[in-house]
Amino acid sequence: MKTLLSNSILEIKNNIKIWKKNNQTIGLVPTMGALHNGHASLIKKAKETCDKVIVSIFVNPIQFGPNEDFDKYPRTIEKDMLICEELGVDIVFAPTATEMYGNGVKLSNTELTFVCPPYNLIDCLCGKTRTGHFDGVATVVLKLFNITEPDFAFFGQKDAQQLFILTKMVKDLNLNLKIIPCPIIREVDGLALSSRNAYLSEEERKNALTISKSLNQIKILYNQGIKDTKKLFDAAITILDKNLELEYLEFRDFTTFEETTEVKENTLIAIAVKCGKTRLIDNEIV
Ligand code: PAF
Repeated sequence: MKTLLSNSILEIKNNIKIWKKNNQTIGLVPTMGALHNGHASLIKKAKETCDKVIVSIFVNPIQFGPNEDFDKYPRTIEKDMLICEELGVDIVFAPTATEMYGNGVKLSNTELTFVCPPYNLIDCLCGKTRTGHFDGVATVVLKLFNITEPDFAFFGQKDAQQLFILTKMVKDLNLNLKIIPCPIIREVDGLALSSRNAYLSEEERKNALTISKSLNQIKILYNQGIKDTKKLFDAAITILDKNLELEYLEFRDFTTFEETTEVKENTLIAIAVKCGKTRLIDNEIV
């Protein structure tokens, strides 16, 4: 079966109409492209769960800050198409920014309607340094949901804050779909897969391995009975390579998203570092 590549909202909607008429379930895997095995795992899960699978590929300008990597974000549509073909994806939706947001529209909330997630979910962790990021993510994802009308949408736990915010959006806005969280996929040496790993030099990649090692150390100590987050934080910090610049290492209850001083079941341990010029995130949920 050939995967259809479309940049047209109308064409997507016409296909959806036919699938819905045939009572076929639809799975959406939203991505920004530069697909890797992490994305492949989401697509495989979607294929297992749904009759039809759409992968969206869109480097969404409204979720990038002015000094972020929007321009240099890897765009590899030919390679992405081969992966999608091989995995049996039905449609790749790869719109232009104009198709998504209109021509000449200022991509800010002076001219565009934005979804604003709850402040306590966006003024912490990645939201602290990436002002407006999650508004941009929630907005584009709601648009993608409205365009593709999925029964299920698949997101990786790697972006745990994003996953939490989007799950809350689905509940708060009574959206008629279910979000399926999927586990983090790692290289054999522990590095969490990310399209941004492509920016790393050999040396930086080696240093970056200490991110997952520090999370592992926390898990080991927690399993030995240490629950105090200060102790766990201190132990993890000693493992992080000195060339990494820590942005945050935080412990949050993954049901409320509140910061916690004691690790218990369903605690998110989330880390962000600068590795050279590249910002990397990782996490574990115990
Ligand atoms: O996780 C991502 O790749 C993006 O934030 C998403 C969900 C595709 C929205 O642009």
